[in-house]
Amino acid sequence: MQDKPINILSIETSCDETAAAVVADGKIVKSSVIASQTRLHEKYGGVVPEIASRAHIEKIYPAIKEAMAQADVAKDDIDAIAVANQPGLTIALVIGVTAAKTLSFAWEKPLIAINHLHAHLQSAMLSEDNPQLPAVALIVSGGHTCLYDYHSPLTPKLLGSTIDDAAGEAFDKVATILKLPYPGGPNIEKAAEKGNQDAIKFPRSMLGPDSLDFSFSGIKTAVLYYCRGQDMKGENKVDSMSAQQIADIAASFQAAVIDVLVKKTQRAAKKINAKTVLLGGGVAANNKLRADLQKMCDNATPPRKLFVAPKQYCTDNAVMVASLAYHKFKAGLFANLTLEPKATG
Ligand code: KG4
Ligand code: ZN
Repeated sequence: MQDKPINILSIETSCDETAAAVVADGKIVKSSVIASQTRLHEKYGGVVPEIASRAHIEKIYPAIKEAMAQADVAKDDIDAIAVANQPGLTIALVIGVTAAKTLSFAWEKPLIAINHLHAHLQSAMLSEDNPQLPAVALIVSGGHTCLYDYHSPLTPKLLGSTIDDAAGEAFDKVATILKLPYPGGPNIEKAAEKGNQDAIKFPRSMLGPDSLDFSFSGIKTAVLYYCRGQDMKGENKVDSMSAQQIADIAASFQAAVIDVLVKKTQRAAKKINAKTVLLGGGVAANNKLRADLQKMCDNATPPRKLFVAPKQYCTDNAVMVASLAYHKFKAGLFANLTLEPKATG
């Protein structure tokens, strides 16, 4: 007789998406609900924590209810409640953590605490399975840019991370400079499609020959100076630029960021002799990043395999939380009702 599947109800509120999902055995997506707050933050050009927190309070219950209804499950079908409790905006995380603890207590189900970044990493496993190990994982999001040595879902080892801005944050800030709509990443990518990536030579910060850390604040400043002059006293040239000029800046900026991401991933892959490369996080939705990493993997000797998170699970979602929680469930790694949100992780 086949084992009964393990159904996990998962919750994600680390930033500006209120998400809930039901996933069976870490892979079979029974439902995925994402209530996006993009419209609320649009006019500020970035996420406002207080607004995010209030929106989570409003949307968390409907999101959970909808996830249960879409999956066509009742509380007795749920084996555990999982929640991303770190890293993220504490006043946003606390809403998801409180909801998960309440359900765990009321329904008498085990509670599983999930690291949001490790969940992004796990999302790369949703497209395929069983990567040849060791693998190097690049996680690129709005808040983080990290390289991991991945031997198992439960113990990824951090190899390097950003010392200032995250890659997604740089996309968002440069979009603001170029007066492109929020969120910046997809709009920079769209503008870049018509641009010449060799038009402007923006700096590529490699931080020394062996470093696996990242720095993206320099390139953001370089774009700002390009548009406002070195002393920042010149008029903002963006208003008088043609669509082609904006497209060239977007393409040149995007190429520089991706160049650094790919070279550092290659460096990390060589260091740990990786057979596989994993890619996840919001910026992983970027087609050029996906294509350039694929090229890097194909050109390696021997070639490396690339596992990329499916597009709908690149940006924040609860499916990745349930997917990782399945491994913790099997390992018996449960949290208790003293669980707290944590900004770092
Ligand atoms: O993982 P995510 O949803 O949230 C965090 O955990 O931060 O990532 C959001 C980030 C934003 O900075 C957004 O601009 C970026 O991912 N992003 C992209 C693309 N789609 C989303 N960046 C570049 N190209 C894209 N197509
Ligand atoms: Zn994220």
